[in-house]
Amino acid sequence: MLDAARAQPERLWLGLDPVAGAMANASRTAAAPPRKGGLPNVRFIRGAAESLPGPFSRRMDEIRINYPWGSLLRIMVLPDVELLRNIVVCGKSGASFTIFLNYSTVAIGLAIVEMSENVMLRYVSGKYVRESEYVPPRGRYHVDNSRTTTRDLPSGRMRIVAYSPYDRVRWSMP
Ligand SMILES: C[S@@+](CC[C@H](N)C(=O)[O-])C[C@H]1O[C@@H](n2cnc3c(N)ncnc32)[C@H](O)[C@@H]1O
Repeated sequence: MLDAARAQPERLWLGLDPVAGAMANASRTAAAPPRKGGLPNVRFIRGAAESLPGPFSRRMDEIRINYPWGSLLRIMVLPDVELLRNIVVCGKSGASFTIFLNYSTVAIGLAIVEMSENVMLRYVSGKYVRESEYVPPRGRYHVDNSRTTTRDLPSGRMRIVAYSPYDRVRWSMP
């Protein structure tokens, strides 16, 4: 996470782990003055993925799970869809979600991508509503001035893509 925080200093990066000791080194590095490699854009939270989303619902631009162990690994590989969804909903619409897993000595990257769908929308009284939810005005003298358009919107359906995180080996599987 520190590498990512260094590469993208404009973003705030939050590390989550139920074992405080597992974050101790990284948190000491981040707390150092910036001239000594410290990162003011990093925070650490002691907590388990099972407690998500909590206050993080739809707040994250990006979610990364790096080489999970224990119950977090179980959630990923079973997969425990309900708990996985609780993690995914921490992402804003369109957020990226990547997981790196170790299988033996080989790492596998997994990306969870929210699929979009083409939806017909109707512009009514200054805002768009889904055509499927639109109720036309009743009454003999009511003129309906609304108009329709189509847009790609997040569908709420997820797709998992497995890929090689190594530059020298290229493969991916939707
Ligand atoms: C191999 S370490 C990876 C640490 C770090 N992500 C990295 O890349 O250096 C696996 C971590 O998963 C954490 N972990 C296990 N179960 C978890 C859970 N339910 N929620 C969050 N973290 C968990 C463990 O405490 C451990 O620190």
